[in-house]
Amino acid sequence: MTTALYSFGGGQMVTAILRAALKKHAFQPTDVFVNDISPDRVTYLRETFAIGSDSKIDQKRLAEAAIILLGVRPQDDWVGLIQTIAQTNTHAQVVSIIAGVTLDQLKAASNVSNLAVTRVIPNTLTDTGFGYSGVTLSAHADQAQVEPFVKSFGKVDYIPETQIDSYTGYGVAGPNYIYNFFIALTNAGVLGGLSRKQANAIALENLQGAARMLELTGKHPAELLDINNSAGGVGIAAQHELDASDFAAGIQNAVLAAIKRTTELGGH
Ligand SMILES: NC(=O)c1ccc[n+]([C@@H]2O[C@H](COP(=O)([O-])OP(=O)(O)OC[C@H]3O[C@@H](n4cnc5c(N)ncnc54)[C@H](OP(=O)(O)O)[C@@H]3O)[C@@H](O)[C@H]2O)c1
Repeated sequence: MTTALYSFGGGQMVTAILRAALKKHAFQPTDVFVNDISPDRVTYLRETFAIGSDSKIDQKRLAEAAIILLGVRPQDDWVGLIQTIAQTNTHAQVVSIIAGVTLDQLKAASNVSNLAVTRVIPNTLTDTGFGYSGVTLSAHADQAQVEPFVKSFGKVDYIPETQIDSYTGYGVAGPNYIYNFFIALTNAGVLGGLSRKQANAIALENLQGAARMLELTGKHPAELLDINNSAGGVGIAAQHELDASDFAAGIQNAVLAAIKRTTELGGH
């Protein structure tokens, strides 16, 4: 048995990543090991994915791992974990999804100047095949080794580390804005006299269809609106109300608040 992937932390995000990575055959289940301090998570992961898992660190599997995933929270003992990695395996590609913890902080905690660390802000649409993850490689990281893994749970956008907070607040939190828009729209449909079922079905169809139109035509949405909003028609009446409302500013303020909060949580 070899260990292609060793993960510290097996919570919500790591579980979503593993589900996608195993489905895409990025790893064989027997080549994956997860170390989580919660015995419940250990049992769940073993039973769900048929991977190796334990609440104690497995030094042998850690030493042979090709990729080590740091999947714990910023408030967990990531410093202790990176020091364990530094003592056990300095050849692996270390991939951190810990929000707000910088490459410099990870390297400083390891005390290994050439540690191959990559910072990933993973998307949360991993089950769908949609969604961009923001990826920042450190100087010693090996893109060829890391890429098949990160591509197994979404599309990859290589970004400078300075963009990570913006990426988190805009991109990774992105589905939240869409869910809110969906609720606002479907409530409007119900207010307007449709059943909840009809309102949901129509909104989902329009959401997917409008995204496809943008993709297919390559047109700016304003061009598509010009076609739909004919003079004296229905569309332009709705457009006037939207333009007079806080619709755009509300979304923009929400994104800016999410970026600000990401920066605050990172403590920088
Ligand atoms: N969830 C998201 O949508 C999302 C999106 C982007 C990035 N992230 C990042 O992903 C990371 C994980 O988030 P999450 O939502 O998956 O959190 P989570 O569900 O709380 O998972 C963290 C897991 O790590 C375990 N753990 C804590 N300390 C550990 C240690 N020293 N060794 C081994 N396992 C340990 C925790 O056990 P206990 O619960 O028993 O402490 C828990 O099971 C965070 O840094 C977060 O910022 C999450």
